[in-house]
Amino acid sequence: MSCDSEISIKELQAVFSPEEIAMRVRALAAEIDAVYGDEPLVAVCVLKGAVFFFSDLVRSLQNKNLELDFVRLSSYGRESTSSKHVIFNKDVEIDLCDKHVLIVEDIVDSGYSMRFLLAQFAARRVRSLRLAALIDKSERREMDIALDFVGFRLKKGFIVGYGLDYAERYRALPGIYEIIPEER
Ligand code: IMP
Ligand code: MG
Repeated sequence: MSCDSEISIKELQAVFSPEEIAMRVRALAAEIDAVYGDEPLVAVCVLKGAVFFFSDLVRSLQNKNLELDFVRLSSYGRESTSSKHVIFNKDVEIDLCDKHVLIVEDIVDSGYSMRFLLAQFAARRVRSLRLAALIDKSERREMDIALDFVGFRLKKGFIVGYGLDYAERYRALPGIYEIIPEER
């Protein structure tokens, strides 16, 4: 049996430090609180990449009527390019009907994953539907997606850390780094 090949990595170049991320996440939580107050809200973490962003964000929210749930989408496998084929591996367990729903995603790249999830949730007659993304990466965007809360904007680059992976590696790094490949 053969294994998939990975690119060879020259270095990881720091992009956002843990301190910068913590400050930005607290500011986003304040923006989100200003919109919802104590309205009943379901925050939905998109696993696996948003795991740390979600856990830091929801613990900074003041909302007293907050519920948490999780979905798992996958589209990438070991590739670092985008895929139009999105798989819903795990759905939420809370009934979203008539609830305010906030999707919490790590990074929006082509936009296919969020187009898929937004359409899925919109069909459930939610009271409102918004999207928070830690990173809005614009260069490869193909779908026009409205991002309600954005942590950082990046033009391009493949980044890892703070939940983001390359072939399942580097998720646990506390900061965010760009992968610099070896020149061929
Ligand atoms: P999209 O469907 O192309 O918008 O891709 C969204 C998903 O691809 C994200 O939720 C990430 O899991 C993954 N992704 C896109 N860009 C990066 C990156 O720079 N680093 C790590 N994962 C990424
Ligand atoms: Mg993701």
